[in-house]
Amino acid sequence: MTVHAVVPGSFDPVTHGHLDVIRRASRTFDRVTVACMRNVSKRAGLFELDDRLAMLKEVTADLPNVELAVFKGLLVEFAADNEIDVIVKGLRAVSDFEYELQMAQMNRSIGHIETMFLSANPEHSFLSSSLVKEVARFGGDVTDFVPPIVARRLADRYASDEAP
Ligand code: PNS
Repeated sequence: MTVHAVVPGSFDPVTHGHLDVIRRASRTFDRVTVACMRNVSKRAGLFELDDRLAMLKEVTADLPNVELAVFKGLLVEFAADNEIDVIVKGLRAVSDFEYELQMAQMNRSIGHIETMFLSANPEHSFLSSSLVKEVARFGGDVTDFVPPIVARRLADRYASDEAP
């Protein structure tokens, strides 16, 4: 049986923490779709979905069983439409757990789909796209936290006057 997993997220932008989860999922499941979604509970993103996808494409180019998708709507509908068997999420700390557990239970209730959690690598446990953006916004060095192409895109984005 071929197991198809989805790694969903905002990826605004992708960090080393996300990449670690994507790589480990790609070693664990036959097929992995990274679904880049707009999180409706967050403010408008820094990058357009197409830009996020372009960065994801570049940093996952060496993973042959990883595909990318953009999706707006319910994750469970995306999963059903794409014959996805399991949702994979990274868990950084206990603080992630409550919300992730609620989402896993809701998705199982409305979509009859299981969620599996990968524990974050401890060196990434403090890492989030939001914190990376805050450091980059004020000119801090984010090269330890994101791939080089993402660090460059962040610097360019904050160099422009229109960055939110
Ligand atoms: O990277 P994020 O922002 O933590 O990702 C959250 C995301 C996009 C995975 C989550 O908000 C999501 O699944 N959104 C899709 C809409 C949906 O299905 N909502 C119900 C979740 S129970």
